Amino acid sequence: MSETQTTAAPTLTPPRPHTGEVYGAQHDGRYLQNWNPLMLAADLPEGEIVGRDFLGTRVIVYRGKDGKPVVQSAYCPHVGADLSKGCLIDGAVRCAYHHWRFGPDGSCVEIPGESFIPQAVRVYSYPAAERWGLIWAFNGEQPLYDLPEFPNLHEDEVFYRTYHHALRPIEGWISASNLVDFQHLKTVHNIPDPNPVKVDFGDHLIVVRQESDVRVADTQLYGGTWLTLHNQLAGGIERLFMAGSSQVAPGWSDAYFVVAMRKSEAEAMGVEAAEAELARRVDYVHKLYAEDEPILFSLRFRGFHKSALIRADKYFGKFLQYMENYPRAKPFDV
Ligand code: FES
Ligand SMILES: [Fe+2]
Repeated sequence: MSETQTTAAPTLTPPRPHTGEVYGAQHDGRYLQNWNPLMLAADLPEGEIVGRDFLGTRVIVYRGKDGKPVVQSAYCPHVGADLSKGCLIDGAVRCAYHHWRFGPDGSCVEIPGESFIPQAVRVYSYPAAERWGLIWAFNGEQPLYDLPEFPNLHEDEVFYRTYHHALRPIEGWISASNLVDFQHLKTVHNIPDPNPVKVDFGDHLIVVRQESDVRVADTQLYGGTWLTLHNQLAGGIERLFMAGSSQVAPGWSDAYFVVAMRKSEAEAMGVEAAEAELARRVDYVHKLYAEDEPILFSLRFRGFHKSALIRADKYFGKFLQYMENYPRAKPFDV
């Protein structure tokens, strides 16, 4: 039971100078080595090539003959035509300009009229995957960790819907710092019991648990940009939610989210009622975005060294240092 939908994203007009503009000016061209959601899987029919801005450059996304997604650098190694303007011929991308063709592994399989193809002529293939109604790409040669999961539940146990939110003028990890900014959960979102009982910083995964009389919330943050939440409220009520973004360009990220419920619950109420229930949860997600975005898009982000952090910012500060040390890499076509 996995489908995707697009939703009308709120219109976002960032104030100036906005976070993306300020942060983009200081960016060194290296991006977090993490999984990035590039597009809704439902928007990628077989046989089509879609172009996406990613890591300050551009990639193409298409499905191989086996239906699995392929993500490759978009600019043709010949003289740089955008391969998203080309077409798929027998499972290989044909450049629109001089009709060189490239296979899913990146190798050049045809140069019209030439029998010799230099091995160096290739496009770069990113590790790619389809999961949670999204097409993902990893920034690196090999994924450093597995694709995101919900805490406590397996994908088979979950009924979900996936949405595109918006291209946003902010680094995704600055937005994701909200997770460990426990003060803001109270002041901005009015969550009365935000303080954690556990915050573990792993190499690529941060695990947070919050407990109070009325709820237990388990949250995981993957690669600094994608969080997954299982919130267990009094009376057996559960909330399941994922959100995060891809790294588009310095200071810009493209945000997606997933709302979910236990599959057994969805089956008990029927698909129509389950859809309606998830639609209500989309409203709550939009409320959270609407509360955060005027602040996030206009902030002059100070980072760990210039922020006046206090005791209550213990984990927030640790997160900022964690992100400074998180592995980064330049995209492969620069
Ligand atoms: S630019 Fe692609 S084949 Fe010439
Ligand atoms: Fe927030």
